[in-house]
Formats: sequence, C-alpha cells, structure tokens
Amino acid sequence: MSQVLSDQVVLVTGAGRGIGGATARLLAQRGAAVGVLDIAADLAAETAEAIAKAGGKALPIVADVSNRDAVFDAAAKLSAKFGNLTAIVNDAIFIKYGPIEGVEEATLDRMLAVGLKGVFWGVQALLAHRGDRPACIVNLASPVADLGAGNTASYTAIKGAVVALTRQLAVELGARGIRVNAVAPGAVPTPGARAIVDEAGYAKRRAQTPLGRLGEESEIAAAIAFLIGPDASFVTGEILHADGGITAKSL
Ligand SMILES: NC(=O)c1ccc[n+]([C@@H]2O[C@H](COP(=O)([O-])OP(=O)(O)OC[C@H]3O[C@@H](n4cnc5c(N)ncnc54)[C@H](O)[C@@H]3O)[C@@H](O)[C@H]2O)c1
Repeated sequence: MSQVLSDQVVLVTGAGRGIGGATARLLAQRGAAVGVLDIAADLAAETAEAIAKAGGKALPIVADVSNRDAVFDAAAKLSAKFGNLTAIVNDAIFIKYGPIEGVEEATLDRMLAVGLKGVFWGVQALLAHRGDRPACIVNLASPVADLGAGNTASYTAIKGAVVALTRQLAVELGARGIRVNAVAPGAVPTPGARAIVDEAGYAKRRAQTPLGRLGEESEIAAAIAFLIGPDASFVTGEILHADGGITAKSL
C-alpha cells in the first residue's frame, strides 16, 4: 500500500457513495485519515467501515453541506480525532435536470444550497481547521461548465460558478500556501447519475466521448488524489478534465 498521503487529514463531502465514496477509499488506501461526510447516515457508515476493514483511517460524519454550522462541526470533529485538516474535497450534490421553463424556485434553491453554498462552507471550514499547515481544496466541476448540454441549466450554472470560484480562490488563497483546483469528470455511471441518465443517454455519451467509453469512479478518484498529493505541489487554479476527452471535442 502506497503511503504517499499519510500526513494528510481530508474531509470528503458526499463520501457515502459514487465519486466521493471512491475518493474517500482511495485517499485512505494511500494513508490519509478521511472524514467521510454524507447526509445519508447509512452510506457514510458503509464507506467508513469499508475503509476501516481495509486497514485505513476514517471517521463517518453525518451532515448536510448546505448547513454552515454542520460543516464546521464536521471539520471540528475530524480535526479533534486526526489533527488539523490538510484538504477538503467538495463533492456533494443535489441535481434535478429539466428545461429552463420548468425550473422551480424551491428546487433551484436546494441545488444552489448544496452544490454552491456547500462549497463555500467547506472552504471556510477547512480554513478554520487547518492550523498553519499548507492545505488543498478540490472541487467537483463538470464539462457542462465549458459546453452546453440538454436541459441542465441549473446544474450548468452551479458548475460554472464552481469553476469560477475555484480560480478565484486559487488567487485569493495562494499566498497562504493553499492550492485550489477542480476535477471535471466525464460521464460516470454512479448511483446518483444513473438516477437521472437513462441507457439511451449513456449510449449517446459513450458515442460522444473520444475514448469511446464511460468513466469509472476510481478514475475520478485518482485525479482528485493526484491534486491532493505532493506530485501536484505547484498546481493551483487548474480544472483537471478527467472526461475521456469529451470537452476537447467539437464535431
Ligand atoms: N457522475 C458523473 O457523471 C459526474 C459528472 C460530472 C460531475 N460530477 C460531480 O461529481 C460529484 C459526485 O457525483 P456522483 O455522481 O458521485 O453523485 P452521487 O449522487 O452518486 O453521490 C453524491 C453523494 O452526496 C451525498 N449528498 C447529497 N446531498 C448532500 C448534502 N446536502 N450534504 C452531504 N452529502 C450530500 C449523497 O447522499 C451521495 O452519497 C458531484 O459534484 C457531481 O456534480 C459527476
């Protein structure tokens, strides 16, 4: 087992399943102590147990990222157990796709609260609990921040904002030794994605992706782990597309 992240304490939001779950497991496998934050208690417990069973360090934390106090509490619990935080992965999301005419205020508010405000609270919680160690922030972006897609206006606006915020914070926090990057995954059939993309949608994505296939959760986790690790020590303000080339394609 590579221990390259053994000095790291990382809070991963949305870590109960999908990309967040795979990321929590990979970071722990590489030696990091991981805060497995999820709104779903059973999922947080499941991921944390899998990590512990494999010999890793994990703390399950039940919290809603849209609740600032809850995110600060989560960071406090993690630092009390394993020491000052060195990184946060802002992964949690709530998505509803649909045409622009049908966007409802309550749904948009919830999407913004989880997908955008949640990133603000995660960043603030990291800053409050990092001590004076260098630190790293990784946000989850999406190719829709670069190119339009069908009926995803709310989600696209949120991910566009996350990309802008990533670059902004790289500039704002760089002098403090804090690196801020994002990973933009291509189509990965996670439990959450499968709930909103049907088989025909995946066939289309496969055909549009230059590598000719969908991504795997572990491939996105690997990109995130790279950004957190020492090999990315001079990388900040970067949007790393782990997308099979879909963003590089025009026709
Ligand atoms: N899967 C893809 O194809 C894809 C593509 C591009 C970007 N992304 C991004 O990757 C990230 C993860 O996506 P995924 O497909 O793994 O999602 P997922 O739905 O499978 O998992 C998301 C996790 O977040 C948790 N969660 C939801 N709301 C929460 C809240 N308020 N507080 C705390 N936890 C909460 C859920 O319980 C779940 O465990 C998201 O930011 C998503 O936008 C995914």
